[in-house]
Amino acid sequence: MEFIISRFNPETDESAYDQSYYLEDTDITPDMMLLDALHAIRRQDPSLSFRFSCQEGVCGSDGMNVNGQNCLSCITPLSSLKEPITIKPMPGLPIIKDLIIDMEMFYRHYREVQPFLKPLNSSPQLENLQTPAQRKKLDGAYECILCGCCSTSCPSFWWNPDQFLGPAALLAANRFVIDSRDIDSKARLQELDDPMKTFRCRHIQNCTAACPKGLNPSRAIQELKGMIVKNG
Ligand code: FES
Repeated sequence: MEFIISRFNPETDESAYDQSYYLEDTDITPDMMLLDALHAIRRQDPSLSFRFSCQEGVCGSDGMNVNGQNCLSCITPLSSLKEPITIKPMPGLPIIKDLIIDMEMFYRHYREVQPFLKPLNSSPQLENLQTPAQRKKLDGAYECILCGCCSTSCPSFWWNPDQFLGPAALLAANRFVIDSRDIDSKARLQELDDPMKTFRCRHIQNCTAACPKGLNPSRAIQELKGMIVKNG
């Protein structure tokens, strides 16, 4: 099986280039994930760099672009991929080395939406209660693992990475705006009422197609835009 992997070492290379690697059929098992294949390739070439941690689709650290689609390598079955398998770093952010990108801009946008609850009483003696219906509204909004697959698949983010907050940050913003326990929704919406931060989203929906957790950031952004307009 052939793998064409993008390589870049800032200390020796002027730009990224492709390198082919091969695994024999005997190296491959039917239930193998792409991350397992990358480990096998790294045994051939220890200089190949990529991030990973949990290996179970939870930590979100092994996002990469595989055959043109962002995904998590640890939950992508090798058998689902067409050969040759082309692996690149996720697009739109600077490359640190090989498949490792600099996520700082992504995290900066996440921090900007203040992704934490602002309750009426910040040191309560009892839980901040919600009705089952209020809690249900958060389903599909809180499960994001910040892998970056959505934001780095978004053309609006590629064009304006420093100004457009991107799908992941806006999904998080929506999650706190709709939380019945948060008292800052109005101010949050005012802060997001910006042609670049939020309205730069053109509803392309690459984000939703790329999310490995099956979330729908595109729909969350449209909801957010509607609430911003209503908020005046
Ligand atoms: Fe943690 Fe893939 S290694 S999500």
